[in-house]
Order: sequence, then C-alpha cells, then structure tokens
Amino acid sequence: MITDMIENDKVKKILYGGDYNPEQWPEETWEEDMRLLKLAHIDVVTLNVFSWASLQPEEDVYHFEKLDSIMEMVHRHGLKVCLATSTAVHPAWMARKYPDILRTEFNGMKRKFGGRHNSCPNSRTYRKYAPALAAKLAERYRDYDNIVAWHISNEFGGVCYCENCERRFREWLKEKYRTIEEVNRVWDTAFWGHTFYDFDEIVTPNLLSEHFAPDRTTFQGISLDYRRFNSESILDCYRLEYDALHAVTPDIPITTNLMGTFPDLDYQMWAKYMDFISWDNYPANDTPIEETAMRHDLMRGLKQGKPFALMEQTPSVTNWLPYNALKRPGVMRLWSYQAVAHGADTVMFFQMRRSTGACEKYHGAVIDHVGHEHTRVFREIAELGAELEKIGSLTLGARTDAKAAILFDWDNWWAAGYSAGPSINLRYCDEILNYYKAFHNLNIPVDIIGVEDDLSGYALVAAPLLYMVKSGHDEKLRSFVQNGGHFLTTFFSGYVDEHDLVTVGGYPGRLRDILGIWVEEEDALPEDAANRFTYGGITYPAVLICDLLHTEGAESLCSYEKDFYKGMPVLTRNRFGKGLAYYMAARSNADFYRRLIGDICREAGIEPIIGQLTETPGLIEVTKRRNQNGTFLFFLNHDTEEHEIPLNCAGTDILTDTDYRAGDLMKLNAKGTAIILVRE
Ligand code: GLA
Ligand code: ZN
Repeated sequence: MITDMIENDKVKKILYGGDYNPEQWPEETWEEDMRLLKLAHIDVVTLNVFSWASLQPEEDVYHFEKLDSIMEMVHRHGLKVCLATSTAVHPAWMARKYPDILRTEFNGMKRKFGGRHNSCPNSRTYRKYAPALAAKLAERYRDYDNIVAWHISNEFGGVCYCENCERRFREWLKEKYRTIEEVNRVWDTAFWGHTFYDFDEIVTPNLLSEHFAPDRTTFQGISLDYRRFNSESILDCYRLEYDALHAVTPDIPITTNLMGTFPDLDYQMWAKYMDFISWDNYPANDTPIEETAMRHDLMRGLKQGKPFALMEQTPSVTNWLPYNALKRPGVMRLWSYQAVAHGADTVMFFQMRRSTGACEKYHGAVIDHVGHEHTRVFREIAELGAELEKIGSLTLGARTDAKAAILFDWDNWWAAGYSAGPSINLRYCDEILNYYKAFHNLNIPVDIIGVEDDLSGYALVAAPLLYMVKSGHDEKLRSFVQNGGHFLTTFFSGYVDEHDLVTVGGYPGRLRDILGIWVEEEDALPEDAANRFTYGGITYPAVLICDLLHTEGAESLCSYEKDFYKGMPVLTRNRFGKGLAYYMAARSNADFYRRLIGDICREAGIEPIIGQLTETPGLIEVTKRRNQNGTFLFFLNHDTEEHEIPLNCAGTDILTDTDYRAGDLMKLNAKGTAIILVRE
C-alpha cells in the first residue's frame, strides 16, 4: 500500500513524476533531464518499463550496466524510483526461438513478433523468463533505499486463443468442474447438441468456434468461462513475478498499472494480489467528469478504500485518440487534483521526455521535443509540482467514508455483455454510470464495491443491472436489507446464476423475495421509442427496457402511462425486515436518477457533503477525505467560469492558506481547485 510506503518513511508527500525512459536516449541528455525534472519538482520516476530486449539480448546473457548507471544517476539526484520489471514486451530473439510466446488472436491469426503486451500468458517461455528477469532485478537493486515500489509489466490485458491456452483451458475446466458431465450441465450444451464427451474436444471460444463477433457467442457459458480463465492466466503471470520480487525484497510494495473500467481483467480478483492499486487515467477532453470520477472510485474500491496511485496521465495530449486535443490551461492540474480528491496519493505522468520515434512521438511529455523548460506544459507541471510540495504529507493516507455504495462486478459485466437480448443498447457500465452520476451530482460520496465486500458499513447499496446473482450473494443482500439497509436494483437483474444459467421460477430470480415483485416480461424499446411515468409530480421517460411486473408485497411508487402495460408499476419499494428494497423497471434520465437517489439517501439518512452549488449539477465537484490530520474537502471547478461557493464549515484552503468561516463565499476560478482543511 502507499501507506506502507509512508510507514516505511520513504514517502512524505504526494509523489510526483512518472515514466522515464532514458535508455531510449543518448547519455548526453541524461544530466539535462535531471536538471529539468528537479525544476519541475519531480521526485519519482518509473524506470525500466520497456527494456527487456536490452536487459536480456540473448537467452543466457543479461546486461544491466545501462540500468545500473540510470539507477545510480537518479539516486544521486535524490529521485525515488518505481521500478518496472520490463516484461510487457518480450525480446525479438525470444519470439523467433520460442514461438509459443506469441499470441493467437480472436480470429485465429497467430501473431508474429511486434507490438507490445504481446506474450501468451500460458507460454512456458514467458512464464520462465519473465519471473527470472524480475528475480534478477530484485537481486541486483535490492539495496537501493529509493525504490518505493515495484511495477510489474505494464497495463496487462488482451486475450490469447493459442494452443497453449486451449490446453490449459481444459485443465482449468477439469479443476473447476471435475467431470465433463458437469461442464455440459453448466454450459447447457444440450442446446444445439454441443455435448462434449471428452475434455479434449473443448476448444477456445472465438471466431473459429462459438463466436460470430467479439461480443456475440452462441454459448455464453463457454465464453464467460474463457474470460475468467484468460483473466486468471494473466494474473498467474503477474503472480509469478510478484513472488519472485517479494522473495527478495519483502518490504517493497508491488503493483501493476490498471486501467479503470477495463473489460479484459477481473480487477477485483487481481487486487487481492496487489500491495496497492495503481492506475492510468486517460480521459478524452469530452469524457464526462463523472465518468472519470467513477473510474477513480472503482479503483479506490478495489482495496476497500485504501489510497491508490495515479500511475499515469498525460501532461497535455495523447496520440491515440481520433482527435488528440490539448488539455486546456489548468486542466492537467484540475484532473490531477480530481484523482487526489478521489483517493490518489500520487500524481504521475506518461512520460518525462517525449520520444523521437515510433507511435508515441506526439504523445505529451514533461520535456517536449524542443528540449527546454520554456513551454506552457512544463510551466504548468512545475507549478503543480511546487504546490504538491507545499501540501506535503497532509492528505496522505486519507480515506473517504461513504455511506452509499454501488456494486460493480466483472462477471456481471461480461455476462450482460454477451447476452443475446433483450437489447443491443444494454451496456453494463452505462447503467452503473447513470446511477453513479446521480450520487456524484448530489455531492454524496459513494464507494464502488464488489460482491465479496462487506456491506455492513453502508446505509444504501445500489446494484444497477445485477444480471448475475452468484450463489450466496442473494443471502448477503437479504441480510443487509433485513438489518435495515436500503437496496436498489434495476431491470435485467437476478436473471442468472454464476454460470449464466437462468434461475427459473420467475424473474428477478433470487432477488424476488427481497424486492417483493415478479417480473413477467421485458419490453426492449428501440432508440426512438419511450414510455413515461410520473414521479414526485414530474413526468420522466422510461426507455431501453420496460419490465412488466407484478407486486408481491412491494408498493408501486409510479407506473407506466402508455402502451398495453399502462398502469403497471415502474418503480417499486418493498419493506423487507428492517430495510427497504427498491426496483427500477426501466431506464430513465439523469434528472430522474438524481431525484430518486436524493430521495432514497434522505430516507437512509445519508447527507450530501454540501448542497448543489451551481445551476449545472456536477460542474463543481466536491469530495471529502479524512486522515489523522483532519477532514479535507476538495472543491473542483470543472466549469469555464468562476463560481462562488457558500461554505458550510470553517477551514483553511491548504493551497492558498486562505481562512474561511462557515457561511463565507469562497471564490473558485475556472478550472480551479480548493482543498479545505476543516476546522473542527
Ligand atoms: C499507456 C501505457 C504507456 C503509454 C501511454 C500512452 O498508459 O502504459 O506506456 O503507452 O499509455 O498514453
Ligand atoms: Zn496463448
């Protein structure tokens, strides 16, 4: 954990820096880099991310001399190091000599050497040489007192469909299901006569077998298991490196850089094997701020709210979007503080110096091609660096104590994504975001948690699109509500078990008694169609899916106003034990979600940090973190205009040292941030 690093006394402030690749440059530039990084108040560099080829140029030959001198140089200059293991791209000789390391794509195409993140996770070669390199790095650099973390590989991901993977998949299935009969049962292979007689008949589900598009498969059960298997296979590779590092340097925390709402890997499972969470945040300029906020909260939730590292962001521009717009003046600072506001204890970039060749030569960097410090981007970076120095250790380790939680589950994402029907416009992350946005806009802190997390600290749990209810999960939700919790779920919930097999006896399956309803049918509306309902005197649209449901103990709070199911409930509330369970049978709009979540929060005794601050909800983002130094309120002005914020408490802005009394109006510039340390 980052806090481990703090306890180690290695980290006394928000670490500031990021990817630095001096090995891609002539040594003459290195000392100048050191001067510039110091000028920018940078104190940490992520080294050695893509160096496997130079570290191991032949099977039995390792060369660490260059890395030695880089390590010496940055140590001499007082920089801390996040040391990567370099295993995100295998060396070319390895691909030629051991082609089992090459991946096979979804369409069955065997890759040649090229790209990155390109190793088959079940390749013996990869599983031998990647941890071997990690072990050598750990042995060689174990005595450096400035290594604050290990960074395994880089942005793990992708899916491989090669023969190594196919063989290993069969073994994985044997371990999981024991008999071929059980495999046939959980995949319902009797459908379309796909019965398997022997494990060796099982093949990878891709375009050559069950799929007709990446997210379209004839057997969801097979495809779902393959996703789980692939995520675990890649995790095994990570763990091999983890073990190699940990054996030599047990006190150095280990991480790998995640990617937020990234579909390939079940990060909730991965998080168990990570000492702290780190992630790469690359919103486009038009990404809604709530979406970025949601990703930060998702990442924070992976370790039950422990602070995370912002491992990468661009200082100015990306190179891989269709339109790579610049971050406007002030936006880099604002988005850096947005990360901190949501739980980050580092602010880091990709990368320190802009490369001269290949696909990232026009990606933003601290040091631009011009080579000096007189650029807008450099100035903004240096100013933020000075500010972070001023903040020092004040906010480190601070936690968000949310009373509301949103449930997020990779299996649900995968299963709902593979589902044929009810609508191609049904997207798991969209439904999560719809509800997240309501909390965000109301300035109500929310945690994003997984199905294994403890619910006892929450007054409200929202589980949009809880399509898959795994064995035991309904029990947990049942006792949460029975004990007085507020629970909310939506259409297309409770349909299947963990194998994507329908729970028969009426939707929403295992949630039916908690919600006190029976969903008889579901109507998928085309994009231009809408039903409507009235809630609290206002009429809202019902779109995407409209469930036709009957109450079985629940009360109907509002009903459809059109079509043959006019009068049927669209929003229900069921008293269950000491708690209340809500069901929202259709998708609606942001105004409605805000209204509904506001009402349920009030009922559950959950207070906003501060009331709505502008006409446009959400433009002023507000979060709260607390540690032994006190309570910090973060105010982030995402608007292009200045705003005045009526403060509801007394405190000091730790960025400007301005004191405020409760009731004062605080001026917040366009793109401005204030961090108020509350006087209690
Ligand atoms: C990712 C990678 C980096 C770099 C950046 C560019 O986050 O980890 O190596 O490619 O993207 O945006
Ligand atoms: Zn493979």
